[in-house]
Amino acid sequence: MAKSVTLNVGDDSYDFPVLSGSTGPDVVDIRKFYAETGMFTYDPGFTSTGSCESAITYIDGDQGMLLHRGYPIDDLAENCNFEEVAYLLLNGELPNQADKDKFENDITYHTMVHEQIHNFYSGFRRDAHPMAIMCGVVGALSAFYHDSLDITNPDHRRISSYRLIAKMPTIAAWAYKYSLGQPFIYPRNDLGYAENFLHMMYATPCEDYEVNPILAKAMDRILILHADHEQNASTSTVRLAGSSGANPFACIAAGIASLWGPAHGGANEAVLNMLNEIGDPSRVDEYVRKAKDKNDPFRLMGFGHRVYKNYDPRATILSQTCKEVLEELGIKNNPLLDIAIALEKIALEDEYFIEKKLYPNVDFYSGIIFQAMGIPVTMFTALFALARTTGWIAQWNEMVEDPQQKIGRPRQLFTGETKRDYVALHKR
Ligand code: SDX
Repeated sequence: MAKSVTLNVGDDSYDFPVLSGSTGPDVVDIRKFYAETGMFTYDPGFTSTGSCESAITYIDGDQGMLLHRGYPIDDLAENCNFEEVAYLLLNGELPNQADKDKFENDITYHTMVHEQIHNFYSGFRRDAHPMAIMCGVVGALSAFYHDSLDITNPDHRRISSYRLIAKMPTIAAWAYKYSLGQPFIYPRNDLGYAENFLHMMYATPCEDYEVNPILAKAMDRILILHADHEQNASTSTVRLAGSSGANPFACIAAGIASLWGPAHGGANEAVLNMLNEIGDPSRVDEYVRKAKDKNDPFRLMGFGHRVYKNYDPRATILSQTCKEVLEELGIKNNPLLDIAIALEKIALEDEYFIEKKLYPNVDFYSGIIFQAMGIPVTMFTALFALARTTGWIAQWNEMVEDPQQKIGRPRQLFTGETKRDYVALHKR
């Protein structure tokens, strides 16, 4: 028996179908709501609105559970490398050895960028924010691949997806090198994805550079944890941009722009700035008070989440990774980690945070790890964008392949001036 809901408006009543997924909340199918009722629904932050059907990532916010194609993030972070997870997100299944080898080879052989791309960097000031550079350079890639412009062609979508996944580490690392005034380091075909990125970040032409395998493994795990996360703001931006049939490189540039905000991916940079501002564990109470004060715009960055009303499972893994990286680097005490641990302890015991179900999210510990690895704060969100490109492009493919897909065109609750007569200039 198909489920439905009935809406009663005065003497009228309307029935709308209820659809069930494989798990998670049912949805009320309101595609005919306006046609039948003459009304719009209203949900500015999409707090209760499903924008699409997807089979890629499922989050249970109450359980603090994150699944990619059904696999728990903990299992993937523990047992896979980033390329395997990228393959899984794109194709729906984990690769066998032959598939894995071929995918890694395909990605490796797209890590170089066109030599003309160098020129885009030199147009920026050396102190340009790396996310500004990422927006510009990734958007510029939409001018380079005329061999694959037909997004209805699966082969064109695949090569565009591979190019984006493969070139993001190169573009991000070069943004860092550009800020230093150091020469760009080319990707190497004998290195894995995360190792290649760290090599391009820290090698110079003057001597051989060996990437620390522990740090490469930690970076690989961090990239896995940031790869995809359902219909978050930046993924929704990529889907909405893509719904018009726009160029995939331009859609990813739009996702980068959305991720940059401090309420989203920019929070990892904001967490480090916050921890530095707090300065000492003794001042944590003062800042927790500020975070609770409705008249104070200050929020605890790295805390809270629209979906998770329990621990973000990625934060749990990252806090462990943080300790491993600091130990590997021989950092016995890290003042910022001390402040973060004190902040987490106090917040989790505080009635305000308990009542509002505010827990550390993915951005709370990642910055401490990145800083310990020598990555500048301004590069943190660029690393998030590097990893999330795989999720964005998997979601973009799913959107393009969805037979129900239409251009996204929300409506509004209009509260402006209704029709009125023009007043000539000399009468105003
Ligand atoms: C990411 O969507 C995703 O999946 C995103 C992400 C991904 O992988 O793509 O997980 C990555 O963006 C993680 C979030 C990173 N952002 C931050 O850490 C910034 C700090 N957190 C927030 O600003 C906030 O928690 C959000 C933006 C993350 C979520 O905001 P919501 O869901 O819109 O919730 P809200 O702002 O309505 O807050 C609910 C209540 C409010 O109090 P009341 O108005 O009900 O009295 O909780 C309070 C807020 O004031 N609150 C906080 C708080 N976060 C929410 N109070 C203090 N500190 C905070 N961090």
